[in-house]
Amino acid sequence: MKPIYLDYNATTPVDPQVADVMIPFLKQKFGNPSSSHWFGIMPSKAVINAREQVAKLINCKPEEIIFTSGGTESNNYALRGYAFANRHKGNHIITSAIEHPAIIEVCKYLEKHNFKVTYLPVDKNGLVSVKSVERAITEDTILISIMHANNEVGTIQPITEIAKIANEKGICLHTDAAQSLGKIPVNVTKLNVDLLSIAGHKIYAPKGIGVLYVKQGIKLEKLMLGAKQENDCRAGTENILEIVGLGKACEIARQNLSKNYEHMKKMRDRLWNGLINKIPDVRLNGHPEKRLPNTLNVSFLNMNEYFQLSLFLEIAASAGAACHSNSTSFSYVLEAMNVPVEYAMGTIRFSTGRMTTKNEIDNAIKIITDIYNKQIR
Ligand SMILES: Cc1ncc(COP(=O)(O)O)c(C=O)c1O
Repeated sequence: MKPIYLDYNATTPVDPQVADVMIPFLKQKFGNPSSSHWFGIMPSKAVINAREQVAKLINCKPEEIIFTSGGTESNNYALRGYAFANRHKGNHIITSAIEHPAIIEVCKYLEKHNFKVTYLPVDKNGLVSVKSVERAITEDTILISIMHANNEVGTIQPITEIAKIANEKGICLHTDAAQSLGKIPVNVTKLNVDLLSIAGHKIYAPKGIGVLYVKQGIKLEKLMLGAKQENDCRAGTENILEIVGLGKACEIARQNLSKNYEHMKKMRDRLWNGLINKIPDVRLNGHPEKRLPNTLNVSFLNMNEYFQLSLFLEIAASAGAACHSNSTSFSYVLEAMNVPVEYAMGTIRFSTGRMTTKNEIDNAIKIITDIYNKQIR
């Protein structure tokens, strides 16, 4: 028996409709979009179409979309690209202590190159305070990067409010929307951001494709040097197959956003209600309301790695952020939120998705309760 999949924040399966539109580009439509002959026409049109599909989902102009290899590259490009292209304006960057490693590690790299970085703390719910952003700004601040929603606990940050301050001070604002896209509205005009990162494999597109939204007028130093693809912003022959897949995934996400939101939330809340009914010492990590509709980060008091290991045989969930760890070590996000150690060590992130069923949730509740009861005996 396959485990029940409740790890949609780690990655999502490819939507069958997404796979269908990709297949012709794996087979017959193999041309290079830069070719001026017949074989280049279809792939070139497909990239244009996909760019429009992504732009429509996040409400920007198609020419503001740069296809990348995923969320990690988008974050690298945004931070390194902006920092190096604008270092004459200042050398200070503001971010938070709970960003994904694809931000934290880039910041550490920039610190080695004479940039100064402020890592803002968060409150017990994982929220960055707007006031703390304001207080951290100095004359040298050129860039603020705060994630839209956290991958481990799902807390949604006040990006629009932060944008207001950034705008007033003429500071560039980047947000990592890898986890929020497809789950809650992500509208670059409403958020008022200058740079925004997307990861395809979190929205039912394949792994290895992403987007960096770059507002018109924002200057970035290139990460990939070579020919002039992607409007001379990212060199390399386009990953047509996956670009087409991501375009379709964005179209589907846009059409079904509120339906998917309701479904994921219903499944998540059913799981939580089932757990609190049956297990006395559970603690919810993340903001009670300002949280992704699919994310349930739960700490079980005094549970250890055996609890997690037994659970993972039957339920595919995550002990931390699955894309970079499967250990039971104390996550830096929970640490930043001051989760007591006796709770933090027994923490599991469950994340529901479009395909999650009531049956799966009810079975998951039973499995978790049985394993928990065996452990406390
Ligand atoms: C918030 C966040 N940012 C960035 C990434 C990295 O994206 P990718 O796996 O496409 O490189 C992830 C992946 O887990 C993520 O959750």
